[in-house]
Amino acid sequence: MEKKVNRIAVLTSGGDAPGMNAAVRAVVRTGIYYGLEVYGVMRGYQGLLDEDIFKMESRSVANIIQRGGTILKTARCLEFHKPEGRKKAYENLKKRGIDGMVVIGGDGSFRGATLLSQEFDIPVIGLAGTIDKDIAGTDFTIGFDTAVNTAVEAIDKIRDTADAHDRLFIVEVMGRDAGYIAIYSGISTGAGNILVPERKTDMDEVIASLQERENRKKLVNIIVVAEGDEFGGANEVARVVKKRLPHLDTRVCILGHIQRGGSPSALDRLIASRMGYHAVECLLEGRHNVFVGILNNRLNYVPLDTIGKSKGKIGGEWLKLMKVLTG
Ligand code: F6P
Repeated sequence: MEKKVNRIAVLTSGGDAPGMNAAVRAVVRTGIYYGLEVYGVMRGYQGLLDEDIFKMESRSVANIIQRGGTILKTARCLEFHKPEGRKKAYENLKKRGIDGMVVIGGDGSFRGATLLSQEFDIPVIGLAGTIDKDIAGTDFTIGFDTAVNTAVEAIDKIRDTADAHDRLFIVEVMGRDAGYIAIYSGISTGAGNILVPERKTDMDEVIASLQERENRKKLVNIIVVAEGDEFGGANEVARVVKKRLPHLDTRVCILGHIQRGGSPSALDRLIASRMGYHAVECLLEGRHNVFVGILNNRLNYVPLDTIGKSKGKIGGEWLKLMKVLTG
């Protein structure tokens, strides 16, 4: 294998996602396996600006594969959005002879990575680390599976208390402007309605389905709402339901950041390991400025500058499934 880089850096950026540590571990161990020096950057792009950069050894990533969060910490860095910020970041990398970088984060982090790779001669490889799964070109993003499992576990618990009190629960899940967590967790928990940004929410339809479920004395009533649903999230849905069906005993539960934490699932550990390994291979093989996705169980290398133009879209099949299986 032709070696074109000698020193690489790895950072995690944007919202943390379970499995980021497994990805960092894979990058470090693969880099060392191929004789590279590997540097960790703390707090994402902010650490590049603050020169919070340190050399990593194999043991630096011992005992982290099972841990949530990110040992490199993460941040959303406004200064990096400015050209002067990126210049400073590049200079700090060059000062240390770092000639390749792996960025683990979501689409916002990839936009920063794209600009850096376009403006300066530093190859960058992206790994999709986000619980939202809102990136086109990959069937998986690191953290999504764990977040869905966390939401499912929580909704199963809500089901117990909903059943005990004959209450309607409106549960809000994360996902930013994508409805994947809502669809996957809603279908997995047998929710009565699943409201997502990808399908216009019709409150008349929701009210009618609640009435229909009441008529047939359905035992448990759960609505899963994506936080990005254009109708306005769980509180807004509850406001309308309480007004139109005041006799229902309605409660709201916003799952929030618990969906970002916890030990990563086996799937997240595996895809993070696989993607991390291939990120280093990309740098070594000269396949630069791409993000490493997995599509139909094959590696898929997507040019960084095409990200963001096409957000991951929920296919018609999922929307149909949602329609048929809810209620
Ligand atoms: O992108 C991951 C995510 O958890 C989204 O689902 C959510 O909208 C957002 O980050 C929350 O961001 P913050 O942690 O900055 O409040």
